[in-house]
Amino acid sequence: MTTATSVAAKHMATAAKADRTIVAFCCRECAYAAADASANARTPLPPSVRLVLLPCTGRVSPLHLVTALAEGADGVMVAGCLLGQCHYREGNFNAVDRVAFVQRLLES
Ligand code: FES
Repeated sequence: MTTATSVAAKHMATAAKADRTIVAFCCRECAYAAADASANARTPLPPSVRLVLLPCTGRVSPLHLVTALAEGADGVMVAGCLLGQCHYREGNFNAVDRVAFVQRLLES
């Protein structure tokens, strides 16, 4: 497990400790692999974390995030490769922009 994947797994576990439903949009190459490795190591994520597998975080749209919250999720997160290490070159940079957009939208 790489550093990025272990960090993603820790974030998901921490977010779910308070028994909140967290929808985690995970890149197949990194965060989803971390969750899979965690389960294989017999330390599965809490059931309150719902994973959504994406080929890359660049595929997440603001509508995905807002819909998850509107449908009852207590929180959403997007987890993927480190910046500069996206397998599709710049997908995670696009995801950062989209998450920032949704944060501004929710704050307004
Ligand atoms: Fe992981 Fe793009 S492939 S964020």
